[in-house]
Amino acid sequence: MLNKIQDILQQVQAWAPQNAQELEALRIKYLSKKGEISALFNDFRQVPNELKKEVGMKLNELKNAAQDKLNELKEAMESKEAADVHYDYSRSAYPVELGTRHPLSIVRNEIIRIFENIGFTIAEGPEIEDDWHVFSSLNFPPEHPARDMQDTFFIEQHPDVVLRTHTSSVQSRVMENSQPPIRIICPGRVYRNEAISYRAHCFFHQVEALYVDKNVSYADLLQTLEYFSKEMFGEQTKIRLRPSYFPFTEPSAELDISCNICGGKGCPFCKNTGWVEILGCGMVDPNVLENCGIDSKVYSGFALGMGVERITNLKYQVKDLRMFSENDVRFLDEFKSAY
Ligand code: DAH
Repeated sequence: MLNKIQDILQQVQAWAPQNAQELEALRIKYLSKKGEISALFNDFRQVPNELKKEVGMKLNELKNAAQDKLNELKEAMESKEAADVHYDYSRSAYPVELGTRHPLSIVRNEIIRIFENIGFTIAEGPEIEDDWHVFSSLNFPPEHPARDMQDTFFIEQHPDVVLRTHTSSVQSRVMENSQPPIRIICPGRVYRNEAISYRAHCFFHQVEALYVDKNVSYADLLQTLEYFSKEMFGEQTKIRLRPSYFPFTEPSAELDISCNICGGKGCPFCKNTGWVEILGCGMVDPNVLENCGIDSKVYSGFALGMGVERITNLKYQVKDLRMFSENDVRFLDEFKSAY
């Protein structure tokens, strides 16, 4: 009996199952009710009394050793499985998630590139402005209803301090501080006290352009508008100007381009007209030049201002303005391939 126990103990110590099935087969072979170790317990009855103590001890040792070995093998197998998942050397390296440029930045950069190509440089000004730079210098008379066109945010108790409603304020700052030739674009954020909806927001972005020099003419403005429209929306783009009114330009106009969604045939986006408005423009009013210290008898200029959200909507057909400021990565990810 003792030899048998010793034998089985050696077998147990040599257990080396390759997988869970083999391990289970060992358990059944040795430790189940009909297993070899259980059979020894049955034979135990026949062991002479004087040997019972020693054999019983050995038998229990064998049973415990087998049980311990079984648990040990099972644990090793499980942790190997877990480790295999963790260290799967066949996996590709963790990819570095690239961010995306915001659609408004993509379009603003594109506008900047187009104007830089024809010699414009960037100028910037403050978002918290005074009445002079936003309105008065730009020929908005006090109490003039044109001020109501732009729902202004005033800083409480400081009626002279406002959040700029347009980037035209940068025009006057630059003209005050430099003499022509001036050829600038002013990208930036502007604020208006509007109810937020899919088509209006209390802040948005504009790019202003200003060109002041000797003999700047309406023809220069037209050429610039045509060049910009074709660069931005494609060679097939047509333009038309409609007369308009802005206090700081005379004459003033609004620029339409042939609808780039239906190609001018008419669609819901252009309300079946085939045209969509993209910006305001005009010849700088001589009063504005004089207000900013530039001799209007020597110099003339043109200016234009556009909404970056509007241009982006046209390029990418974003239907809801609020998407631009919600930081929903599902929306932003759509611009992954843009630059
Ligand atoms: N500042 C105008 C606005 O916010 C846009 C604009 C119109 C700018 C005509 C100009 C311009 O420079 O000439 O609605």
